[in-house]
Formats: sequence, structure tokens, C-alpha cells
Amino acid sequence: MVLPRRTLVACLILASLLIAQTDLTGFWVFRVPTGDGNFRDLFFEWKQTGETLTGAALTDSRKLPISRGTVKNGKVHFTIVRVAENRTVTSTYDGTLDGKRVQMTAVRPDETVHGVFERSTPEAAAPPARLPLPPLHDVPDNGLVRTPPLGWNSWNKFAGRVDDKTVREMADAMVASGMKAAGYVYVNIDDTWEGQRDAKGNITTNRKFPDMKALADYVHSKGLKIGIYSSPGPKTCAGYEGSYGHEQQDANTYAAWGFDYLKYDWCSASRIYKDEEMQPVYQKMGDALLKTGRPIVFSLCQYGRNDVWKWGAKVGGNLWRTTGDIGDHWKSMDEIGFRQIAIAPFAKPGHWNDPDMLEVGNGGMTPDEYRTHMSLWALLAAPLLAGNDLRSMSAETRAMLVNAEVIAIDQDRAAQPVQLVSEKGSSEVLMRPLGDHSVAVGLFNRGSSAVEMSVSLNGKTHIRDLWEHRDVPAAGDGLKASVPAHGVVLLRLK
Ligand code: GLA
Repeated sequence: MVLPRRTLVACLILASLLIAQTDLTGFWVFRVPTGDGNFRDLFFEWKQTGETLTGAALTDSRKLPISRGTVKNGKVHFTIVRVAENRTVTSTYDGTLDGKRVQMTAVRPDETVHGVFERSTPEAAAPPARLPLPPLHDVPDNGLVRTPPLGWNSWNKFAGRVDDKTVREMADAMVASGMKAAGYVYVNIDDTWEGQRDAKGNITTNRKFPDMKALADYVHSKGLKIGIYSSPGPKTCAGYEGSYGHEQQDANTYAAWGFDYLKYDWCSASRIYKDEEMQPVYQKMGDALLKTGRPIVFSLCQYGRNDVWKWGAKVGGNLWRTTGDIGDHWKSMDEIGFRQIAIAPFAKPGHWNDPDMLEVGNGGMTPDEYRTHMSLWALLAAPLLAGNDLRSMSAETRAMLVNAEVIAIDQDRAAQPVQLVSEKGSSEVLMRPLGDHSVAVGLFNRGSSAVEMSVSLNGKTHIRDLWEHRDVPAAGDGLKASVPAHGVVLLRLK
């Protein structure tokens, strides 16, 4: 159909008037499809004044103001600048008005996402009503993980890309690589398995996980155990459905599917509760897991806030994260690892400090740095949850993960705390007494060039190098070793 010229001009004027009159002021939700049937929703409050757009993104923990916002000729533009881990992170939003919606592309340093802004309400943007918290009591010990859990977790390598096939293949690889024989047992699915709730409020899986019961059966058939993930908040950290208000129902579902381990991640619970209220919030799930009657390891993840090591065991926690997220680079691992020594005495059989999952084999550190990572985690009696792709790891990575002599330090049943014996410049000597009266000693070089380090043997005559797998001849009452940059010499002295 060809429109007469005058009608066309009138239409164009009308359209531009409409655009000009569109007032974007109000509540909006930015819906980004995750590719598995879910949407990641981020709420915004916008105020339009002429061609200027102000307002904020309403995240779980705070309002992030938008800057340089404009609405011009049907185009919407703004940026959000936030500081995360001492880094300034800028996200740039560019969109086009499309009827009552805005088609939007958001460019962040690590990703570009396409989604749509839809009108929302203050109610939808607000957290759900606060539920009452239970009075405190000590949750009985479930008797699990008397030594730190050994296994694998999907997050560090796969994040939102984990699916049923990957988990099955990881279980296969855990067996084929010799990791199972070395003691690894848990195959843990982290965030992004969740679907929506059904009419009865039961949590369902998204299309990446068509049948959780069958998947758990498969992992069990390999002689391994399987873990799952949720949040005490309404949403998980990746924006999926959390367990808020469905704690017992979800625990029952995990038990019915056959899960043996739950990582429970604070995330959006911060929109409802204060840090000081974490204990009763976690206790609720601790009780719920026990009530299922199935042995399920309870892993607390709240980034070490509120001195969790002082109350984690009381809520039924078998392990508790003591830090923010680890990154696959030296600075992150070094900062996290060496900060743990002071709280080491809080770890007890069945109740462990968790400085986060391993990055060994993910490519961001040198072999020496990864050996430091393994050695430090073993001395700390930390859970050893591999975070790499077990199907394709190099022989060197595999050798680090299955080093039986290093794993034996981690798993030592006496669970005595590691101590800092000496510190000189960037050299640190750590020592951990072991159950058989031997001691594990780590000579750590946190500096960026090799150093000579020495340690006194205190009458011990048998010296074993746990990375070289050889006995070292003793010369007098001391031992000298050259330690590479960011490296370690790990010894067992008898
Ligand atoms: C938080 C946790 C991570 C991981 C992600 C998943 O950041 O600390 O270990 O579980 O959430 O969204």
C-alpha cells in the first residue's frame, strides 16, 4: 500500500510527537533470557525530565545510580558505574523504544546481553514480605564429612553453562582420571539448574537438567555422590529461583531426587535480612535437611560475613565459606589463602572453613602457583573441590589434583590447625602437626623471584618432599631449599 505523501508526513509527525511525549518515569524490569527457559530480571526506577533520564538499578544489596542518561529520538542511553573488588566496572545500556517496551543491549566488561525493558511496579521490584525467623537452637550434628569434602563443583569453569551432559561427563572423568581413587567423591552442581515453581510450589529444573533423579542415579552408579545449590533468598546469585519460604519443601525435593550435598548461598537474602540474622536463616535449612532423613552435607556460602566460623557448626553447617569468590589468578588466590591462618582453629571434624573452590587447571595461574594453591588448601584442611574441566585436563593438572601425599595432609584426621611459624619479607613458613606425630611444613614464597628458605627440623630425621615425591637427606638440624617465585616446597617431617 502506498500512502499519500501528506498522510505519511502526518504519521511521521505523530510518531515523533508520541516519542517525544513518552514519559519513561516509573518502575521497569530488564528481562534478559538466560537461554534455558529463564529470565534474569533486574529492576530499575527511572525518572525522565525532558531528554534526561535519571534513576537507579535496584540490585539485591543497593541502588546503583544511572549516569549520562538520555532519551532522544526513540533511543535510550545510560551507563552504570560501580566499584567491585577495587575495580571500576562500567555497564553501558543502549536501547530503542518499541511500543511500550525498550529493546536494550547492555555491554559489560565481561559480557554483552540483549533483553527487554518492560513496565513494572514498586511491589514487583520490592523484596517479598519478611518471614519470621525461628528461635535459635543447636542443630544436631549430621555426622558427615569427618574429613574435608573432596569433589568437583561446576561454577569456576562452567558458571551458567553447566548442564546434565557436563555433569555426567564430569562423573565419568572423576573415575577415569583416578580422582575417585584418590578420594574425590562429590560432583556438585552450582547455580543455574533451577526452573520455576509448579502449581504446588515445588521447584522444577530448567531445560538444561531434564531429569534430576536420573542424573543423581547416574552419578551414584559411579560410586560418587552429587550436590546441588540454592539460596535462602528469593533469588540465587545468578538470579534464579531461591528457596525463600520453601525451605522444607526444597530440602524434601533434593532428598527425593537423591542429592547428598547442598551449597546454600546468601545472595538475595540480603534484601530481606541483616547480616546479624544469618544464623537463624541458615538454621532453618539445617533443620530442614535433617528432617528429610537423608544424609545431606550442608555447605554455607555467605562469604565469611558475621564471623560464620563461630556459629556455622551450630546451624548444622559442615563447611562455611570464609571469603568472597576466588578468581583464577595469583592475586586472588594469594590474598584469600594466606588470610585463613588466623581462623584455622575454628575448623573441626565435620565442620570446615571453606576458602572457596579450587582453580587448579583453569589456566590463569602458573604450575608453581597452582601447587601453592593446593598446598595451602591442604595445610588449611580446606575442602578440595576441583573447579576445572576434568575431561580435558593436562597430565600436570591431574598430577596436582591426585597427589596422594598432599591430599593426606588435607585429610589428616587429627584436624590440627595450621600455624604460621615464621614470616620474612614475602617468605612464610607454615606448619601443621599431623595425627602420626609427623608435621607438614610448607615453605611459601609469595614474592616474584626465587628465594632460599630454611626451616629447622626440631629433631625430625625423615624428610619427604610431597611434590617431588622423594626423601630428602637431612644435613644437621636444618633444611635449606630454593623456592621458586609464587611457589612452595611442601614437606612432611617425621
Ligand atoms: C556466588 C558464590 C559462587 C557461586 C555463584 C553462583 O557468587 O559465591 O561460589 O556459587 O554465587 O551464582
